Amino acid sequence: MKYELTKDLETGNPIVDKEHRELLQAVNNLMDACAKGQGRTAIEPALKFLIQYVDEHFRHEEQLQQRANYPELAKHRQIHEDYKRKLKEIAAQIPESGPTVADLSKVNTHVAVLISHIRVEDKKLGTFLKDK
Ligand SMILES: [Fe+2]
Repeated sequence: MKYELTKDLETGNPIVDKEHRELLQAVNNLMDACAKGQGRTAIEPALKFLIQYVDEHFRHEEQLQQRANYPELAKHRQIHEDYKRKLKEIAAQIPESGPTVADLSKVNTHVAVLISHIRVEDKKLGTFLKDK
């Protein structure tokens, strides 16, 4: 299954939506790498890229919020912090021999958390930015 930014996930903010598309592409690339059933070294670049991209994207979102005086910035930032921490935890647990079924299920669950974050919090932000 490929993740994609369906219409219902668009926030209406072109920067945020573009980055969300790239983020889901990074997830797909990681999943493709995992599907090959190789060791950790083989998936490391895709994993690192995803972690970096999440960091960068969240930072951009927070900058947009700061500039627009978004009232929910503190709450939103906290969600981002928790998300990044958990992502790194999941990544760190993947053994040298490659991700187990349990690891893959953790990754998928964490992607689902991101998608619901986009659907709720980021769309709320999109609406706020539109009215600015
Ligand atoms: Fe966000």
